[in-house]
Amino acid sequence: MKNFKKYLAPIVLSCATATATSVQAGEVEVLHWWTSGGEAASVAVLKDLLEKQGHSWKDFAVAGGGGESAMTVLKSRAVSGNPPAAAQIKGLDIQEWADLGLLTNLDPVAKQGNWDNLLPKVVSDVMKSDGHYVAVPVNVHRVNWLWANPEVFKKAGVGIPNSWEEFSTAADAIQKAGFIPLAHGGQAWQDATLFEAVALGMGGSDFYRKAFVTHDMDTLKSPKMVDIFKTFKGLRKYIDKDSAGRDWNIATNMVINGKAAMQVMGDWAKGEFVAAGKKAGVDFACLPAPGTSGQYTFNIDSFAMFKLNDAENAKAQNALAKTIMEPAFQETFNLNKGSIPVRSGMSREKFDSCADASMDAFNAAAATGDLVPSMAHGMSTTSYIQGAIYDVVTNFFNDDSLSAEDAVNRLAQAVKAAM
Ligand code: BGC
Repeated sequence: MKNFKKYLAPIVLSCATATATSVQAGEVEVLHWWTSGGEAASVAVLKDLLEKQGHSWKDFAVAGGGGESAMTVLKSRAVSGNPPAAAQIKGLDIQEWADLGLLTNLDPVAKQGNWDNLLPKVVSDVMKSDGHYVAVPVNVHRVNWLWANPEVFKKAGVGIPNSWEEFSTAADAIQKAGFIPLAHGGQAWQDATLFEAVALGMGGSDFYRKAFVTHDMDTLKSPKMVDIFKTFKGLRKYIDKDSAGRDWNIATNMVINGKAAMQVMGDWAKGEFVAAGKKAGVDFACLPAPGTSGQYTFNIDSFAMFKLNDAENAKAQNALAKTIMEPAFQETFNLNKGSIPVRSGMSREKFDSCADASMDAFNAAAATGDLVPSMAHGMSTTSYIQGAIYDVVTNFFNDDSLSAEDAVNRLAQAVKAAM
């Protein structure tokens, strides 16, 4: 938090007076990181709906799952006093940008579109700064999913696992049968995505919140956390040796084409299955990540809107915000993206069994206190603490000389230093 302000505060003044005169009237420049097959098909829906209203879309795509690269590029654009009209910014980062005075007030659009009544409060609170809307939510992704290729399981003669113990038994059999048990890409955010699933399953929702939302030091240093790190490391042997640097969608593709049996990944992975013409419940299975049935790690994509001086561009920006919350966009986008609509009262008719399961699980988990924000996807904490956790998790996963006990101590220290 502190670091963020230190880094950007000096440029706030120059940004606040920056104009958007260099772009054509009625144009919105949109920064996002949706570049995989399923993601590109999804964002094309928004572009299309905006262009149909006579506005133009200037694409500002920065490849890189999880959005770390996109955020770096966004900061440098803001530093030069030239942020885009809209940027994919999530979770607590929205507040950080709003605190710098760079975001525009979307209250008139929100009021007209009845957003307060159409969004769960847990979502609308994140989209507001000082009670005013500065961002618009796109979807709800569930992160704690296990994606599986049933054919591979059939060939290996085992069932799809529900716990980490079952996972090891199944993975051993799959390996023996000549397949890769776990498709994974060796990138910090993917390691963190796998790690948080293990932590949620083994620790439970309260433990998860204490570790990744309130950062309780005793929880971070607990024997339970040591066990979680050990189980996490135990998954390493089920990943192939070429995983370093692999993109998440390439890993998903290994499950799609039957080279690998499973992937632990948020339901943007479903977007890849769908883009490949695969059917949920037939060609692929979606199950809660081992040990997390009844729990829901949420990840909400959203666009924050920056202040613009050009009136026509501001109109186009408002049209973009309005369109995002409309049923037509919420349905088509989420069918492609693998997520579920964030707008309440949408028909489920066109959604598949995985989306149905996600919608049911969201409601059930909200009622039982098992709805938790994703650490790996910027929902639970600041980007500084998230980065500190990423570093420890990824170093531990890739370095055999580090013990689980050492890693846990480092975790607590790193989180404390970033607070
Ligand atoms: C985003 C998703 C995106 C995924 C992979 C996540 O952090 O929320 O929308 O598909 O990263 O790029």
